[in-house]
Amino acid sequence: MTEAAVLTGLGAYLPPRRVTNEELADRFDTTDEWITTRTGIRTRRWVDPGVCTGDLAVEAGHRALKSANIAADHTGIDALVLATTTPDHPCPGTAPDVAARLGLGSVAAFDISAVCSGFVYALETAANSILAGRSRKVLVIGAETYSTILDPTDRSTSVIFGDGAGAVVLRTGRADEPGAIAGFDLGSDGSQRELISIPAGGSRQRSAGTVPTEAEQYFTMHGRKVFVSAVQHMAASSRTLLDRVGWPVGTLNHLVGHQANIRILRAVAEHLGVPAERTVVNLDQVGNTSAASIPLALADAAAHGALSPGDRLLLTAFGGGLTWGSVAITWPGITPA
Ligand code: COA
Repeated sequence: MTEAAVLTGLGAYLPPRRVTNEELADRFDTTDEWITTRTGIRTRRWVDPGVCTGDLAVEAGHRALKSANIAADHTGIDALVLATTTPDHPCPGTAPDVAARLGLGSVAAFDISAVCSGFVYALETAANSILAGRSRKVLVIGAETYSTILDPTDRSTSVIFGDGAGAVVLRTGRADEPGAIAGFDLGSDGSQRELISIPAGGSRQRSAGTVPTEAEQYFTMHGRKVFVSAVQHMAASSRTLLDRVGWPVGTLNHLVGHQANIRILRAVAEHLGVPAERTVVNLDQVGNTSAASIPLALADAAAHGALSPGDRLLLTAFGGGLTWGSVAITWPGITPA
C-alpha cells in the first residue's frame, strides 16, 4: 500500500531576459533603493514578446522529468497538474497543451487557480491522487508570466513580480523515506477577494455588460493589506501544520516561504521562531513568481547545496483569493535539473 507521496524530481526554468531595478527606475517613478529596501528584490526575469506561460511550463516540466529519471518517451506519468494565474487562454486550460507538448500521452491534465498559493494546492491535489491509488507518478508545475498582466502604469506591482516556472514529480512511496510529504494545510477567505484581482475579463464583468477600463484588465493589489494578511496566514497555517505532523519548530531545517517580499519572509520566520539562516530566500534574483515561487526557491537552495537528504522542510504560501497553504516534507536528495 502507498503510504506517502514522495518528491522524486525537481526542475526550474527562468526566461533569459533579466529586468533590473535600475531598468524599472528608468520607466517608473521609483528607485533601486526603494525597491531593495521595501521588497528585497534586485532583479527579476520577464519573458520576451510571444513567449507564454505554457512555454515556460514545458521547459520546467522537461527538467523535472529528467531530474526524476523518467524515460525519454515520458511514459509512466499518470497526471499533470499545472498551477498558474496567467494561463495561455481564459479557455481551455493550459495543462492539456503542456501535457501534449511534453509527450505525456492522454493523461489527466488540468489547471489549478489559487494565485500565489497555487503550487501548494496543486501539490496537495497530486498527492491525494497518489494516496487514493489513482496515480503512481504525477507531474506538478507552477508557471507564470506576470509581466503579461502587470499594469504598465502601476509602479507598486510592476517592481514586484517576475516570470518563471518550477516543476516537481511526485511518486508513490513510504512515509519514512526522504522526500515523503508528511502533511498539508490549506485555507481560503473569499470575503477578501478584492485585495488581489484582475477586475475585468471574467463572467462577473461580462454578465454586468460593463465596458472595462484599461486598468481593470490588469492585475491589482492592495499591497499593505496583503502584506499583513500574508504574514498572519502563512504563520498560522505553518503552526497548524507543524502541530498536525508533530514536528517541533526547532526540528525544522528550512522554511521555504512564498517569495513575496523579504520583509514578509522575515516576519513569518520571526512569528514562528525560525532563525533567519534557516529561511530560504531567492526573491532578490527572481522577484515574486507567484505559483512558480516555491519550486524555484527549492531548486535554487538545492543548487547552492543548502539541502541535505532527510532535512525537514516547511513550505508555506499565501495568495489572492485569498488562499494559503503549507506542506511538510523531507528533502529527498535528488538533483534538480
Ligand atoms: N517606488 C516608490 N514608491 C512606491 C512604490 C515604488 N515602486 N510603490 C509604492 N510606492 C509608494 C506608495 O505610493 C506609497 O506612497 P504614499 O505613502 O505617498 O501613498 C508608499 O510607497 C507606501 O506604500 P505602501 O503600499 O504602503 O508601501 P509598503 O511599505 O506596504 O510596500 C509593497 C509596498 C507592495 C512592497 C508591500 O505592501 C508588499 O510587499 N505587499 C505584499 C505584496 C505581495 O507580496 N503580494 C503578493 C502576495 S501573494
